[in-house]
Amino acid sequence: MMLEVRDIETFYGETQALFGPSLRVGEAEIVALLGPNGAGKTTLLRSVLGLSPPRRGRISFDGRDITRLPTHRIARMGVGWVPDDRRVFPTLTAARNLGLGTRRTRFRAWSQAEMCEIFPALPHLLARECETMSGGELQMVAISRALLGSPGIVLFDEPSQGLAPKIVQDVLRTLRRLKAEGLSVLLVEQNALAALEVADRVYVLDRGRITHEGPARALLDDVALRRRLIGI
Ligand SMILES: Nc1ncnc2c1ncn2[C@@H]1O[C@H](COP(=O)(O)OP(=O)(O)OP(=O)(O)O)[C@@H](O)[C@H]1O
Ligand SMILES: [Mg+2]
Repeated sequence: MMLEVRDIETFYGETQALFGPSLRVGEAEIVALLGPNGAGKTTLLRSVLGLSPPRRGRISFDGRDITRLPTHRIARMGVGWVPDDRRVFPTLTAARNLGLGTRRTRFRAWSQAEMCEIFPALPHLLARECETMSGGELQMVAISRALLGSPGIVLFDEPSQGLAPKIVQDVLRTLRRLKAEGLSVLLVEQNALAALEVADRVYVLDRGRITHEGPARALLDDVALRRRLIGI
């Protein structure tokens, strides 16, 4: 198992955001995490990354307990992140941002050349400062940076947010390619149908609790269940 989250309780100050969700992501598996605004999806990713460590419960990655490790150590072990706000250094060029994210782990090493093959527009962005880029361009930089860190799993927080439909399709195609290369993916996505199309399994989170888990296909096919759980 690449990632295993068990019964975590995460707080912001005294406010509890997660009430014991458990979740697993296997090797080369794409797992979608769906749920309404404020459900705790980002908080769950932040818990895994050590940015909002859980007060209770346990998180393991690649067989090792990471529950209370600092964020930089978790990243160095091979947990990649594509944050919802991209989080690039705005005044630095794309090339410099990619350089800062480049790392070796025990997992597959991706090269800048491979990223340029996945995103044909990337070569034209390398010399540009990130603050001059569009949302889609920034997303290419953010995904490339995550992969250059040689992750075993990548946590995507709403990668299609603010992107044109064509670029959303590019991002989804990229996820399939990552899976084919053996990478694991945990995908938080507002575009639930697109996420279910690409995912192997799905969890639905609501007010800090898992309300459904199962094969993505089953939820895609069961319209009544889908309406009840995710409103589409
Ligand atoms: N920095 C913070 N301080 C206090 N409360 C927070 C903070 N960030 C999130 N919360 C609260 O924690 C709960 C879960 O928020 P979270 O951002 O994880 O939800 P989400 O599922 O990612 O929502 P969205 O779909 O809007 O991104 C919400 O009630 C939110 O108000
Ligand atoms: Mg969120």
